Amino acid sequence: MDYPLHSPDFYVNDPAPAYRELRRRSPVHWTDANGGFWAITRYADIKWISSRPDLFSSARGVMMPNPDAPSGNRRPMLISTDPPRHGALRKLVSKGFTPRQINAMEPDIRDIVRGALDRAEAGVDLEFAEGVVAPVPTRIIANLLGAPYQDWEQFRTWSDAVVGAADPDITLTPGEALGALTQYFQHLIELREAGGTNDLISILLEAEVDGERLSQEEILAFLHLLLIAGNETTRNLISMGTLILINHPEQLRKLVHDPGLIPTAVEEMLRWITPATHMTRYATEDVPFRDKVIKKDQAVVMLYGAANRDEEVFGDDAEQFVVTRKPNPHLAFGIGEHACLGMSLARLEARVFFEELLARFPHIELAGEVSRMRSAMAPGVRRMHVRLSAATTKKAVHR
Ligand code: HEM
Repeated sequence: MDYPLHSPDFYVNDPAPAYRELRRRSPVHWTDANGGFWAITRYADIKWISSRPDLFSSARGVMMPNPDAPSGNRRPMLISTDPPRHGALRKLVSKGFTPRQINAMEPDIRDIVRGALDRAEAGVDLEFAEGVVAPVPTRIIANLLGAPYQDWEQFRTWSDAVVGAADPDITLTPGEALGALTQYFQHLIELREAGGTNDLISILLEAEVDGERLSQEEILAFLHLLLIAGNETTRNLISMGTLILINHPEQLRKLVHDPGLIPTAVEEMLRWITPATHMTRYATEDVPFRDKVIKKDQAVVMLYGAANRDEEVFGDDAEQFVVTRKPNPHLAFGIGEHACLGMSLARLEARVFFEELLARFPHIELAGEVSRMRSAMAPGVRRMHVRLSAATTKKAVHR
């Protein structure tokens, strides 16, 4: 039994049947591709690995091993740092991500979402993924950083190039995009050093924990990480989430009928889609694991999407999309000390997006083929033509 777990196509085509097989028959599964790695598919195993950074290190990067990936220009990032340094860094950058700061973003997020939805007209075919959804997370991060409005679209081009490198439509190399981003961020930092501003960069410049501050290099690395970690993932959550609602009209109707269900629906979308397919760790010593031994320096790829369909945790309906699912302890944001720092922001973006979308357009249908974005890390929707319609039922008209 082997599956092309290294291939973007594996993740774009439905991986659920392979995940099911792996969970059952080979939960700690060796694959020779890309220099070889272990694939982990059971919920409990991923949870345990994530709780042992002493045995499973993030320091060699969290992307699946890929001999073709460009090396060099890899600055140390929060996400690829181990304890104890990780804890100290995380405390510093968390100063810019307190619940109060995230909640305070809701009005701006609503404005950005409304602006994006203004492009849509009832009854008229519309390209939704690139045209409506894609600009939203980028604008929100740009707004968070205090970047001027006219630079927002440029962000998206760079971030696409860094993450979507496997997609043939993107011509800028990841190295070029990283270089351009660095220059741009340096410029923003210089502007902020003068003081008097209250955006995330200013907060990072002033953050101090136990007498320590972030270096400029660390701030740059963190800003890169935000763009890479917070854009495609959130975009894919929203585009794929819309597609899933189209494919599950009875679930869509539930949300239109009771928008109070949107937060639990967002959790179910996170579980179902798992926008970041995996994170990788490298063993720091030989670790006996189930009936295998993971050797020192071997890569361990945690397939969150497989854990998120684990019947042991999600029950008999684990393979069904249920917007009312509760509890829903999915691992879409990872778990343990590296658990997603931006999860409240991502949840807020998705909630506001679906609140606004469904209030305006309770009827959504496909109006053409869906073309997918090839990526082993963040597979998404490239283009998706939809037809949105305004309320027609009495209930929806009066909402
Ligand atoms: C649906 C959207 C998102 C998903 C599915 C997602 C997923 C993840 C996952 C799985 C991790 C764990 C990494 C690991 O264990 O190695 C992570 C970490 C991280 N995420 Fe997210 N993320 C999302 C949105 C965001 C947003 C919006 C931001 C910020 C703007 C963000 C910033 C980060 C950062 C900084 C880390 C590293 C945390 C650390 O290493 O301590 N993410 N994310």
